[in-house]
Amino acid sequence: MFVLFFGLLLLAALPTRQLEQTSDSGQAKPAPLAFDADGTFHISIFEDLHFGENAWDSWGPKQDVNSVKVIGQVLDAEPQTALVVLNGDLITGENTFRQNSTHYVDQIVQPILDRGLTWASAYGNHDSDYNLSRSHLLEREHRWSSSRTTRMVHNDMAGVSNYYLPVYAADCQSDCTPELLLWFFDSRGGFLYQQRDPATGDRVGQPDWVDASVVDWFRQTNQQLVDGAGKPIPALAFVHIPTSASLALQKKGLDAHRQPGINDDVPVAQQGDGPCIDGTAAGGATCEQDVPFLEALTSTPGLMALFSGHDHGDTWCYRWDNATLPDFPVAGNGLNLCFGQHSGYGGYGSWIRGARQVVVSLDKLADLAVDTYIRLESGDVVGAVTLNATYGQDVYPATPNDKTKCPTCRYNR
Ligand SMILES: *[C@@H]1O[C@H](CO)[C@@H](O)[C@H](O)[C@H]1NC(C)=O
Ligand SMILES: *[C@@H]1O[C@H](CO)[C@@H](O)[C@H](O)[C@H]1NC(C)=O
Ligand SMILES: *[C@@H]1O[C@H](CO)[C@@H](O)[C@H](O)[C@H]1NC(C)=O
Ligand SMILES: *[C@@H]1O[C@H](CO)[C@@H](O)[C@H](O)[C@H]1NC(C)=O
Repeated sequence: MFVLFFGLLLLAALPTRQLEQTSDSGQAKPAPLAFDADGTFHISIFEDLHFGENAWDSWGPKQDVNSVKVIGQVLDAEPQTALVVLNGDLITGENTFRQNSTHYVDQIVQPILDRGLTWASAYGNHDSDYNLSRSHLLEREHRWSSSRTTRMVHNDMAGVSNYYLPVYAADCQSDCTPELLLWFFDSRGGFLYQQRDPATGDRVGQPDWVDASVVDWFRQTNQQLVDGAGKPIPALAFVHIPTSASLALQKKGLDAHRQPGINDDVPVAQQGDGPCIDGTAAGGATCEQDVPFLEALTSTPGLMALFSGHDHGDTWCYRWDNATLPDFPVAGNGLNLCFGQHSGYGGYGSWIRGARQVVVSLDKLADLAVDTYIRLESGDVVGAVTLNATYGQDVYPATPNDKTKCPTCRYNR
């Protein structure tokens, strides 16, 4: 499995290095996010777009054209979209050229700009490679004030796309408490920009989990926001690589009517996949490097769901209750862990392209419940569920395992 390959190429020792610091462009930011007058806030999540594959072949550029179409078709079918989330692997970094590796951003955001929308990214493992730098990617995004992606944790280890966005009530004038927080986490991975191991000449890997400094920042920042609000604030989170809890839930078993979705990527390739950073657990065992991250998420009151990509063949949501995984090191506390839908024509797999939609409504937020479904490029909707207290018991239609038919595409013959 393609994703596993990259997960396993992890470093034995951490390199010492300096990553470039992003100089924010100082460009005018878009107006803060707000609920619509009808009390809803609609998010469209595109993941694993994988632009820039095989620029030297005829099929590479063609699949980017197809991916732009997917974004446009989904957004046209979802006219209430208030925010587009690009949940990682925007670009297939290992296929890019140093002089223009970030230019694919221009193609990705065009259908978003055409519709007057704004976007927010969480970068993926393929967004870092020898010729592609995460901070350069952010700089490219910042050519447009419609990018809400930013960097709130500044150190060499944290990755780049760690930040939050508040969402306010429709009638907020100023000094309002956010109704909703959107957290974006950088699960890193891939390879460091322009670095080679001097001994082997190989690319230098980057850890593929959310860094401890980001976990600290999240805990502190959330506490400040909660103190300011005087109460927990409902929240959603986005990260490209799923956590080890998703793997444990998959091992426990899915029910096609209670966790509807495709479940073809078995086992889940998760954060911290590969040898442990201290060299222990060799021979295929993995380290649960994401335990501090999971502890922080599950102990944050109001945090309803974490949305990931990375495993193109997994599209389900699972409500992780305390009793679900009694032997896991972290208690789930009802956090929903969701995959989206492979959106790009680039990247492995021929599962029908689409994008997970999230509809947050103020009346359901009182019960910390949200609606979500997948809008396919065909226009169909699959996997519509309500992530509420009885998700996991409620019975829904199973999701059909449809494929894109595209005889000239790389992965769909
Ligand atoms: C980047 O440069 C390569 C090599 O010249 C070219 O094939 C490719 O189309 C370029 N990509 C973009 C997005 O400009
Ligand atoms: C990086 O980009 C350079 C310049 O375009 C190109 O010659 C080289 O093949 C690329 N290297 C990798 C590892 O992709
Ligand atoms: C789940 O477990 C955590 C940690 O032990 C605990 O704080 C929390 O109250 C539990 N939640 C429920 C719903 O029992
Ligand atoms: C959760 O949502 C489902 C589907 O709308 C509904 O049937 C169920 O009653 C809801 N559960 C709760 C506790 O509201």
